[in-house]
Amino acid sequence: MWDYAEKVKEHFLNPRNVGEVENPDGVGEVGSLACGDALKLTFKLDDEGKIEDVKFQTFGCASAIASSSALTELIKGKTLEEAESITNRDIADFLGGLPDEKMHCSVMGKEALEAAIENYRTGETVTHEMEGDVVCTCFGITDHEIEEVVRDNNLETVEQVTNYCKAGGGCGGCTGEIEKIIQRVRGEKKESGEQKPKRPKNLTNIQKIQLIQEIINEQVRPSLKADGGDLDLIDVVGDDVIVAFRGMCANCKMAELTLTDVVQAKLREYVSEDINVYEKK
Ligand code: FES
Repeated sequence: MWDYAEKVKEHFLNPRNVGEVENPDGVGEVGSLACGDALKLTFKLDDEGKIEDVKFQTFGCASAIASSSALTELIKGKTLEEAESITNRDIADFLGGLPDEKMHCSVMGKEALEAAIENYRTGETVTHEMEGDVVCTCFGITDHEIEEVVRDNNLETVEQVTNYCKAGGGCGGCTGEIEKIIQRVRGEKKESGEQKPKRPKNLTNIQKIQLIQEIINEQVRPSLKADGGDLDLIDVVGDDVIVAFRGMCANCKMAELTLTDVVQAKLREYVSEDINVYEKK
């Protein structure tokens, strides 16, 4: 039994925008029934080029239905350029997080959107296929698709990649290639300077608090949210950082471990090795 955030349950039980738009401007289809998940997205633009109506049909689990419903809510009223900037992480965040093993549902939503926009621009009704070479033949996942989920979600392990796009979840014959892709993307990030400089010196108090908040937002919260939890920064007193767990994390037996091995470890790595993190109960 999966632990779903309240919003996931709500969107699963009362999905928004179900069905098919009449005379759509864009149609996108992803997935296959053989793999258990499939999604069809249709949209219509208004005179200003904004998404006036959008609907979905899906065959999938609770997460697939909730992710599709969330996607339609997120893109309604947006221009295609604005809609394109939405990531699968935005879909999961909108829902208050998805179980790690279900993150592929949010990726499917993003792919359906990409397919529908592509359909609008090219005028062809095609089933979405990612560019690139197929790496995982069990699920037909290409190197481009794996690169994209690794980059968008800052993934580090093959297991995470499997959770996000299913690649590697069958015979396992592609895991070596997935590992290489992860290393390549993470190497590119380092070279392009996307990673934060470690432990800047001579920070003022304000700068220190801002950096702590930034590291919590970027390096800690996404993984907690993916599990239906969250964390708030409460106070900073010298090198003592006080935080409070929210959602699933508030009652989690592993919270103490998360506090030291994740939150404190990240803050020591990026802010100061003297930092100690405490939980406000
Ligand atoms: S080829 Fe990827 S799991 Fe089988």
